[in-house]
Amino acid sequence: MRLILIGFGNVGKALLRSLIDKRNPLNRLGLRPRIVAVLDRGGGAVDPDGLDPAELLRTDEREGTVAAAPEVGQFGLSPLTAIKEVEAEIVLELTTTNPDTGEPGISHVEAALRNGRHVITTNKGPPALAMRTLQNLAELNNVEFRFSGTVGGGTPILEFVKQIAKVDILSLKAILNGTTNYILTQMYDFEASIEEALKKAQRLGYAEKDPSLDIYGIDSALKLTIISNYALDQEIALNEIHVTGINDVTLEEVRRYKRKGQKLKLVCSIDKEATVSPQPIEASQPICVDGSLNSVQLETRYTGKVTLIGPGAGGYPTASAIINDLLALEGKEQGAKRVLTTEMAGIRVN
Ligand SMILES: NC(=O)c1ccc[n+]([C@@H]2O[C@H](COP(=O)([O-])OP(=O)(O)OC[C@H]3O[C@@H](n4cnc5c(N)ncnc54)[C@H](OP(=O)(O)O)[C@@H]3O)[C@@H](O)[C@H]2O)c1
Repeated sequence: MRLILIGFGNVGKALLRSLIDKRNPLNRLGLRPRIVAVLDRGGGAVDPDGLDPAELLRTDEREGTVAAAPEVGQFGLSPLTAIKEVEAEIVLELTTTNPDTGEPGISHVEAALRNGRHVITTNKGPPALAMRTLQNLAELNNVEFRFSGTVGGGTPILEFVKQIAKVDILSLKAILNGTTNYILTQMYDFEASIEEALKKAQRLGYAEKDPSLDIYGIDSALKLTIISNYALDQEIALNEIHVTGINDVTLEEVRRYKRKGQKLKLVCSIDKEATVSPQPIEASQPICVDGSLNSVQLETRYTGKVTLIGPGAGGYPTASAIINDLLALEGKEQGAKRVLTTEMAGIRVN
């Protein structure tokens, strides 16, 4: 399989490091993806015979862009040109999430699907703002549009919800943003003010320099939109979710709930309507996770409450979600080849 990577930040780099590691499941199965192009804002590096991941990581470290890679680098190469002109089976769209327009991610995904390439993305913009259009486009072009890493990082929240939701689901509650959960945990455990907790989260790399998408609940709302549309089959638009961030949460409020045995969390829920807001949860409930963990709890008519917990972000966990998507694609390709070979051999399978 030949891959084009659009975006070479935390996730892109963690993916290349994972692919170099001989223990990764693709290597174990003898599948060696060939990286034929990698792009960032400065341009790209292209080699149809396969780029050297270690060399790309060194160039990026030294020069700040893969476009400076000796012999294979091209300053100013645009993602759309690479998608159209470089031969590859799969495009990985790993650029920055834009919650307003979904761009440039949506255009990259569209171009890749139209050119008959499978797409795997961790960018929340395309599936949150244009899921149905992109799924239809993928179907039309006989390729796949996959986005496991957009929710839960390496914790397979989307597939978990999709599986459980096949039975009669009554409600869904989730903590989907590690940054805000870390901040609320610092306030609860150490009596930190929200400003102090945010500074610590930034120092440790849990929060971006501009943390507004997390703090105002937008990141959580994007993820809830993806869950609803993909895993629950309930069509919902981002602007239909009622969103309140943690920006106005005070230490006094956190203390008040603590005295009642509760913790204040940024909770995403789908009941009669979809909401993201700070809500108290009983500290003893499994869904009430601390630090940067994510959790999702589904209640169904027959099973009662079922909960999944795991790390919700980070380069390596998210790269592992991409590797799972790659394995799923490879599995489908092999399945299709088997059907073809069986049909060609005239064998009937009952
Ligand atoms: N980090 C996580 O834990 C995590 C978890 C789940 C999902 N995600 C999502 O996955 C995506 C990637 O995350 P990340 O942490 O790797 O982000 P990041 O470190 O900010 O990297 C983003 C990359 O995209 C490139 N880029 C942005 N706009 C571009 C454009 N127009 N053309 C070409 N390249 C462009 C950037 O180029 P420059 O390097 O030149 O700026 C950078 O290499 C984001 O959408 C994020 O929300 C991240």
